[in-house]
Amino acid sequence: MYQEIDLDKIDINAEPPAEEPARQYYFMAKCREWVKDFEQQNGRLPKSCVTTFGCQMNARDSEKLAGILRQMGYVDEPDEEKADFVIFNTCTVRENANLRVYGRLGQLNRFKKKHPHKMIALCGCMMQEPQVVEKLQKSYRFVDLIFGTHNIYKFAELFVQCKESDRMVVDIIDTADKIVEELPNERKYSFKSGVNIMFGCNNFCSYCIVPYVRGRERSRNPQDIIREIEGLVKDGVVEVMLLGQNVNSYGHTLDTPMSFAGLLRKVEQIEGLERIRFMTSHPKDLSDELIAVMAESKKICRHLHLPVQSGSTRILEKMNRRYTKEQYLELTKRLRNAIPDISLTTDIIVGFPGETEEDFLETMDIIEKVRYDSAFTFQYSKRSGTPAAAMENQVEADVVKDRFDRLLARVQEISAEVCGRFKGGVKDVLVESVNDHDHALMTGRMDNNLLVHFPGEEALIGKIVSVKLEECKGFYYMGARVLNE
Ligand code: SAH
Ligand code: SF4
Ligand code: F3S
Repeated sequence: MYQEIDLDKIDINAEPPAEEPARQYYFMAKCREWVKDFEQQNGRLPKSCVTTFGCQMNARDSEKLAGILRQMGYVDEPDEEKADFVIFNTCTVRENANLRVYGRLGQLNRFKKKHPHKMIALCGCMMQEPQVVEKLQKSYRFVDLIFGTHNIYKFAELFVQCKESDRMVVDIIDTADKIVEELPNERKYSFKSGVNIMFGCNNFCSYCIVPYVRGRERSRNPQDIIREIEGLVKDGVVEVMLLGQNVNSYGHTLDTPMSFAGLLRKVEQIEGLERIRFMTSHPKDLSDELIAVMAESKKICRHLHLPVQSGSTRILEKMNRRYTKEQYLELTKRLRNAIPDISLTTDIIVGFPGETEEDFLETMDIIEKVRYDSAFTFQYSKRSGTPAAAMENQVEADVVKDRFDRLLARVQEISAEVCGRFKGGVKDVLVESVNDHDHALMTGRMDNNLLVHFPGEEALIGKIVSVKLEECKGFYYMGARVLNE
């Protein structure tokens, strides 16, 4: 494992090794020399800030960037203004995400004008779009380093290249050449962690840009995944979230194919690991084997995020989702039969091109039928290069907004009713933090992902305790710890 690699023993005057990850450790060692000089000149260590936009995949990538920066000798600085190095790990799934990045870049530019030595880097999904990089090269000259999603493992090497150059360094590759294991990472939480099980996506839902910016689906080897989780558990982690754009198709591309359910069975056996979550499940690939594994498991959380996107079969077809409304409803029935207390959550897009009021009412109907614990609702956002962007009948903005408001209001009413069903019960809760507003309270998460606040002490953080759910406040509970369970 990377912890065993002693950077001080690496000869940085030799040629860099060709193989990975040794090559990257060489560059980290090289940066460390540079950090020593910085410390001598400034009387302090340089500070870095990693800012994440987007999904949990990006959050996990950011932990890798933070880990590499820590190895180089940088200290963490949450304030972008004070940091000597700032990196934005970007998202482009909807236009809003994209615009937010440009807005925040403007602010960084003002900071850089005050502190010209500040180094600014951009990476992540937005950088895989050629028109974005063009725009940055033209109008955002103050950015020092740009790289994409496929070469994030090369961060240390690119960092050195950037330090040695006085021009903007841009390194984007179109397809992933390899999965590099055993790089450092710095986790945000001591007791829970995301674990990538696969990268990319092959589904090409017609509205979605992810397959273009994350590339084709690639699964990690099960041995690497298990080894990583075992290491995390040794380090105090009790809960893992297995991450992939479509975890249900895990393993199809491996030399020795393995199903996602098969992987879960192996992860379940890891001693000391208490909870397993995963994201995201595509309904078309959710197997009966997976339902059976979930039903039997002691560790897999009774929660499934199952994005429906629309309740209209006609729109689902145009979205290239490859299931009908009826098939989706049938699937939720099978899930609830096998796991009666399961919490279902979803993602819904409103205003996909050609969506009529009738189609929209089908979506309103499916949320009545499924009664989700919670739903993320999105207004359709046109992403250039996707098939849906070229479709006719884009829905007028005010119609989309009206439908969105109606959907959101009903989704929230239903979740408040559904979330209340646990009142009076006792649940195992993973204690995550001290409550932001009241320091006498602790905040914990149940296996269905709901939060509960209860009186307790900080020493409980990272532990699983029993909590009586006394009062439901809509989307969270107030409770009291139950001792002697
Ligand atoms: N792989 C996951 C989702 C990744 S993106 C899955 O298949 O479910 C997260 C969510 O963003 C999607 O579920 C979808 O609801 C939403 N989304 C993706 N592209 C979008 C677009 N162009 N406009 C609006 N919402 C979008
Ligand atoms: Fe996008 Fe569909 Fe892939 Fe999810 S499954 S990332 S929505 S293309
Ligand atoms: Fe965004 Fe990329 Fe995730 S586009 S949602 S950060 S995969």
